[in-house]
Amino acid sequence: MNENLHQLRCFGCGSRIPGAEARPDFRCANCGDLFEVEYPGWNQRGGNDRPNPGALKWLWRERRCSGEALDQSGVWRFRELLPIMESFGNAVSLREGNAPLYHLTRAAKALGIDQLYAKHQGVNPTGSFKDTGMTTALSVARERGFTWVACASTGNTSASMAAYAARAGMRSLVLIPEGKIAWGKLSQAMDYGAVTCQVKADFDGCLRLLTEIVRKAPIYLLNSVNPYRLEGQKTPAFEIAEAMDWNVPDHLIVPGGNLGNSSALGKGFREMRELGLTARLPKISVIQAAGANPLVKSLKLTHGAVLEPMEANTRATAIRIGNPASWRKSARVIQESGGWCLDVTEAEIAIAKAEIGAEGLGCEPASAVTLAGLKKLRAQGVIRSGETVVLVLTGHTLKDADYTIDFHRGTLLTDEEKLGSEAAIEALRRDAITVDATPAAVLAAIEGEAIGGQSG
Ligand code: F0G
Repeated sequence: MNENLHQLRCFGCGSRIPGAEARPDFRCANCGDLFEVEYPGWNQRGGNDRPNPGALKWLWRERRCSGEALDQSGVWRFRELLPIMESFGNAVSLREGNAPLYHLTRAAKALGIDQLYAKHQGVNPTGSFKDTGMTTALSVARERGFTWVACASTGNTSASMAAYAARAGMRSLVLIPEGKIAWGKLSQAMDYGAVTCQVKADFDGCLRLLTEIVRKAPIYLLNSVNPYRLEGQKTPAFEIAEAMDWNVPDHLIVPGGNLGNSSALGKGFREMRELGLTARLPKISVIQAAGANPLVKSLKLTHGAVLEPMEANTRATAIRIGNPASWRKSARVIQESGGWCLDVTEAEIAIAKAEIGAEGLGCEPASAVTLAGLKKLRAQGVIRSGETVVLVLTGHTLKDADYTIDFHRGTLLTDEEKLGSEAAIEALRRDAITVDATPAAVLAAIEGEAIGGQSG
């Protein structure tokens, strides 16, 4: 690690330590809070280490035409803002990042917001945004000589970690809540060769258990309590600003689970503004599932002073988390940027997911909370029609095919959950039809279907 350029600052008490002195659980020895990576050289205006914004913009654009593996990574392309390694030659990359920013044409029309975009991180090598942070944190683990890495996961972190560990020739240990993750994600961890333990506990219990394990054995912890994960996960903020010619959207909407991603994106936007790459922050809003909404409650009841852990329950299993590790960081991002934190129901998530599918993009259930949340913010009148909005879609639609099939078969939601939304759900359902092997039978199946997929 490059100890000269970065240090770790405790988010709670502000104490600073060299990166190599972090405890295995990445908690502050004084107050138990989490650390953030800090680059002291950036603070001195006119100092030698302070990057020049104009030069960086030019360099990062040039690298898009480069044949070098590191330049082709949408994370390491921005490596001037990631000076966490002794040598970038130690980086383990799968060409992550470079996720497209799509215009959501139909949702834009329906909501009366012309400039509505989706940053689709589901196109990453293992199908989720986790790859952008895994490349940085696992690279640090390799440089520091670890042979084992581990995480507790609702599925995507484990899939990502297992892949990057395999590429680096390292071993990986996965703790997942038994029966509570999507099969596609479990299959990825197996495929990439992780030691996968299905634990009789929820995600929060898995993370607690792993925290004890890393104190006993030389295993490097790769959950988002690891501040180097968040360094990689801040880079989509750079991509979004670059795609908008170094302007920022008025609103960024992010799903909230363990709350690392919203923290990381907030840090990315904050650093860009501090370095003069951009002029302002977007309003960053975090959306949780109604059954897993501890941050919503914390902000509502205590203005983010206290978070009461809860037993979480939602079919969006990726965000089924009741005691999120990075809640303080995320609360600060929301408050500092002027965003909102709200929750959405199971029916609202299912409808939004089907609508994103109908745009030809698709995403996993946890990602769809962003569109569901946007609809609420729009209805409350806090997002206006002329504003620019970016939804962060965190995972690929194939991650949880069971959820999609159950929705279209009509077996996903209970009658109680559907109450009041029956018509919206029926309009979106596209169940597979069994037909005889004759042209007449197949043609009968499309009879009455108007062009554009709307039933006539
Ligand atoms: N969306 C997806 C698809 C996720 O997998 C996660 C988190 C989130 C959103 C929430 O992000 O935790 O940074 O607030 N998945 C973790 C995992 C917990 O283990 O894969 P967050």
